[in-house]
Amino acid sequence: MDACNAQLIEIWQAPEGNGGRIRVDHPFDIVPGQYMLVRRASDLSSLPVVVFPSSKADNGLITASSLPVDWTPGEQLSLRGPLGHGFRLPASARFLGMAAPNGDPSRLMPLIDAGIRQGAAVSLFLGKLNERASFFPLPAAVEVQPLSALPEALVWADFLAVDISLRSLSSLGELLGLKGGDQKLPCLGQVLVRTDMPCAGIADCGVCALKTRSGWRLACKDGPVFDLEELIDVAG
Ligand code: FES
Repeated sequence: MDACNAQLIEIWQAPEGNGGRIRVDHPFDIVPGQYMLVRRASDLSSLPVVVFPSSKADNGLITASSLPVDWTPGEQLSLRGPLGHGFRLPASARFLGMAAPNGDPSRLMPLIDAGIRQGAAVSLFLGKLNERASFFPLPAAVEVQPLSALPEALVWADFLAVDISLRSLSSLGELLGLKGGDQKLPCLGQVLVRTDMPCAGIADCGVCALKTRSGWRLACKDGPVFDLEELIDVAG
């Protein structure tokens, strides 16, 4: 699916921005971590909103917390996507660690569901745990822990997924308890880097550029999901 019409059916407040249910007039497949660009159909010259699904719904999707506060149910939307590279969850992974330092696990929810479906044990490490844990409904099988316990996950996890803003990316190594330099990562990991992606690569605006161990990359085209070892200072 490239571009299609859609409608905002329902909206609700969430700590990091509004979530909502969008009806989409075309069937589509989207990998956890991929995104869509959404605009009001009445204002196609406006900057698009980056929307990550939190889950699929009948005829559409439930969005992660990202919708503008002035959008209301019934709005006609124009939607483009799925875009970018999502998570690649190894089929053999049985112990998954997931982390949302901002306390909002909604972008990781499709990956959590995929992990549970393949029989993996899932632990979720949340920032702002006391404020946020009760806000987002999570499957009963998910063990929720404070973000401070994340370094312990590197010992037992066989796959680690993190959702972090580009602004906070420099703190990733510290969040994982890694000292950098010649330290090796004990498990596979991938990171969803949240940032504005106004052109989604069409105009090469560079707004979403980030520095990786392989050089500068664009989150909109090369990500927004990157291998963990590309983003932190560890031994290759
Ligand atoms: S959003 Fe313009 S290059 Fe990525």
